[in-house]
Amino acid sequence: MMADILAHKHIILGITGGIAAYKAATLCSRLVQAGATVDVVMTEAAQQFITPLTFQALTHRRIYHDIFDIPDGENIPHISLADQADLLIIAPATTNTLAKLANGLADNLLTTIALATPAPILVAPAMETDMWQHPATQSNMAKLEQWGVTLAGPAEGRLASGAVGRGRMVEPEEILDMARLRLAQAGDLAGCNLVVTAGGTRETIDPVRFISNHSTGKMGYAIAHAARDRGAKVTLISTASLSVPIGVALIPVDSAQQMRDAVMDVVRLADVLIMSAAVADFRPATVAEQKIKKKADSSIGMSIDLVRTPDILADVATYKNQMAQNGDVVCPKVTIGFAAESENLLTNAEGKLKRKNLDMIAANNISASDAGFGVDTNRVTLLMADGKKEELPLMSKRSVAEIILDKVMGLLH
Ligand code: PMT
Repeated sequence: MMADILAHKHIILGITGGIAAYKAATLCSRLVQAGATVDVVMTEAAQQFITPLTFQALTHRRIYHDIFDIPDGENIPHISLADQADLLIIAPATTNTLAKLANGLADNLLTTIALATPAPILVAPAMETDMWQHPATQSNMAKLEQWGVTLAGPAEGRLASGAVGRGRMVEPEEILDMARLRLAQAGDLAGCNLVVTAGGTRETIDPVRFISNHSTGKMGYAIAHAARDRGAKVTLISTASLSVPIGVALIPVDSAQQMRDAVMDVVRLADVLIMSAAVADFRPATVAEQKIKKKADSSIGMSIDLVRTPDILADVATYKNQMAQNGDVVCPKVTIGFAAESENLLTNAEGKLKRKNLDMIAANNISASDAGFGVDTNRVTLLMADGKKEELPLMSKRSVAEIILDKVMGLLH
């Protein structure tokens, strides 16, 4: 099972001279909390805004700023740091430092490390809008991106001058997520095209009402997040309105029919499909154009005719069969379902595994309040098509996601 991708990574955090340098302290703290080893390199100008002592206290490590400051017995810092790094983050990155990077200048310790390191580089620019929009900055950024430097921001918002515009450094959480995305490119699911569904579908009754269920999307989003962190190209088809991990492509949907159409559209290029969504099995036969009014006589009830919705996994199975019969490459290579059950957990899940021609199903016991809908934990038993079974204890949805992805790795190879 994989931990946070930042854990045990060696990150060099370069800080240059801008007012956003104060946010670098939060970024540094979050990186340390995520388990990374963080070496901070500050430019002269950065030290005008925030002291090295702040970062020494946060990292419990020596802070680097002078290229010629080499304590006895230590290696030249720009060479040793550059070699050890898994990632160089420069946040905030001033227009001056970006210009130096784009032109291969190495006139301080940070720019020298940037030239010397084989590690990927992530920059979070921070400057006034006019400086950001200047053709010199834009051409420098284009050059850096062409060289593979990852760009985080800048965002729109209030700037140091008091003006509002583009040039504000993005928030530390976003930089952290971009760092994960960059490091994930070397993950075990790199190159894998993974589709995951999340949330409960909504089947419209009238302009006011719909039929749905208690799914919040948490399980599906945990899978999307974990797969993204392991390098997969993730498409999330979702009815939920949770925050979408950076780098994940979202297809918002509402009804079972919309989810089916979206799945069938993307699955043709997918390696893996994981259906964690709670898809309605029935929808109203007709949708009332106007709000349905109650009868004046309160003793008169009402009933709604329901018809079946498409069974998405069954349609995917049919599609895979057709591809196999035609001798085409079968996509998705791996199909995984979930079964939310309140009774006869394993028998019901086994039936769905076979009927829907799945490689694996996560039998989800929803009878306890700490598992299934809405909560951050889950309890599932994994049933494989070859008859193998693995009962997992109660754990976070993220941990369930990681174990499912471990199984995906096994099924793909
Ligand atoms: O979203 P959360 O609040 O985090 O809750 C997570 C969850 C409980 C929704 C999730 O862990 C889960 O169990 N999802 C499956 C819920 C479900 O609808 O199970 P089912 O037994 O009705 O369906 C079996 C499988 O067929 C599912 O993979 C489902 O996506 C799929 N299905 C169902 C109906 C349908 N018309 N088409 C389908 O493809």
